Amino acid sequence: MGDARELLAVGDDGLVPKERYTSPEFAALEMDRLWPRVWQVACREEELPAEGDFVEYAIGDQSVLVVRGGDGAINAFHNACMHRGTRLANGCGNLAGGAIQCRYHGWRYDLAGALIGVPDREEFPGLPDDVRLGPVQCDTWGGFVFVNMDHDAPPLLEFLDPIPKLLGPYRLEEMRFRSFQTVVLPANWKAVLDAFNEGYHVQGAHPQILPWTDDVAIAYEQYDTHARYGRLEDSRRTLRPSPRLGMAEEDVDEGAILAGLVAGLGGAFLKEERAAVEELRASGLPAGTLLEAYQRRRMELLSARGFDVSDLTPDRMTSAEDVYWFPNMVGPIYPGSAILFRMRPNGLDPDTSLKDIWTLEWRPPGDTKPMPERRFYNDWTDKDWGEISNQDYANLVQVQAGMKSRGFHSLRLNQRQEGNILHMHRVIDRYLARP
Ligand code: FES
Ligand SMILES: [Fe+2]
Repeated sequence: MGDARELLAVGDDGLVPKERYTSPEFAALEMDRLWPRVWQVACREEELPAEGDFVEYAIGDQSVLVVRGGDGAINAFHNACMHRGTRLANGCGNLAGGAIQCRYHGWRYDLAGALIGVPDREEFPGLPDDVRLGPVQCDTWGGFVFVNMDHDAPPLLEFLDPIPKLLGPYRLEEMRFRSFQTVVLPANWKAVLDAFNEGYHVQGAHPQILPWTDDVAIAYEQYDTHARYGRLEDSRRTLRPSPRLGMAEEDVDEGAILAGLVAGLGGAFLKEERAAVEELRASGLPAGTLLEAYQRRRMELLSARGFDVSDLTPDRMTSAEDVYWFPNMVGPIYPGSAILFRMRPNGLDPDTSLKDIWTLEWRPPGDTKPMPERRFYNDWTDKDWGEISNQDYANLVQVQAGMKSRGFHSLRLNQRQEGNILHMHRVIDRYLARP
């Protein structure tokens, strides 16, 4: 495997060998050296409201059980019985009787993972008293439960830096699921991630949104491990189409751009906010003031609902923070809502992946709406995902197939607009280099 690693590392030329997306050897390297060592999102805290609630987190051929204990603490274990290895629980649910009982010979574990019951125990004379399920590190931030199989890994907050600082004002911990979908896609997990970590493909794949998207102004920023893209930190958002369209100033219709922007946010903005756009458009505000008026209105709407906007500037009201949390989470985060994509290898197959689509929304304290149903799509063509995602998924089929071509060898990335992708590969290589 060492050979595959050296052969497939990203060199100084920045060319990315295609086998990083297509070869079972590289997928095995990731299973061996990346996934067991990195903090990754296993679930949301809200999925474990009560004692004994559990969620299974599957990554490649590994399975981790995340369990809410009697003391309220969340624990994580390798999902394998210490008798003969049987997987203890699947999916999600509640462990009846406050214990984890193996379906095979009935060994029992408490919610903290200690072995508490062995039928015919006297026939296991050498069995130590302190047998436990294989422990996995577990911690929370922003309402997310993270796990890490590496006991020597740095603390979660150190690993996440600077994400907690960037996203703190959005109060992710106060958000709850609006919907939860998982889809199997016919492309490597990184190929799927890449499609949501750059804006370069907007002009090629989604030209229909250029009239209200200034794709050229998107800035990309890489941190030690993570990355982000979106509005430049100190630039104001403006209502401008893509400069690629070469539109004359007098043809720019700010109201239409704002309406397109709000409509394109995929339901992230609520009904009254759409109504506010129409009202402001009809009120005939002077050019250049519409966006500001809308941002103020949106702030009032959110505060009126009880959402604390005190740490957010008006300009953030119409901008997403698109943050890439290494290795596999990305998605736009807005005041009051978020759409997060989590990509995972699908078993050991380099050619398919699981994409979770989590839409979160802010809920007033005391809101007791239950978790929405988790939906699973084994075939992405079974559902209409909306124009933009349909375009992305149709592309990904061709990306994974095309990369296999005998005439194609490595990815040549745009240095600026695809910088987050190259950065991801370099960080992956950092993990793979550790023996
Ligand atoms: S494998 Fe679990 S009790 Fe035997
Ligand atoms: Fe896209």
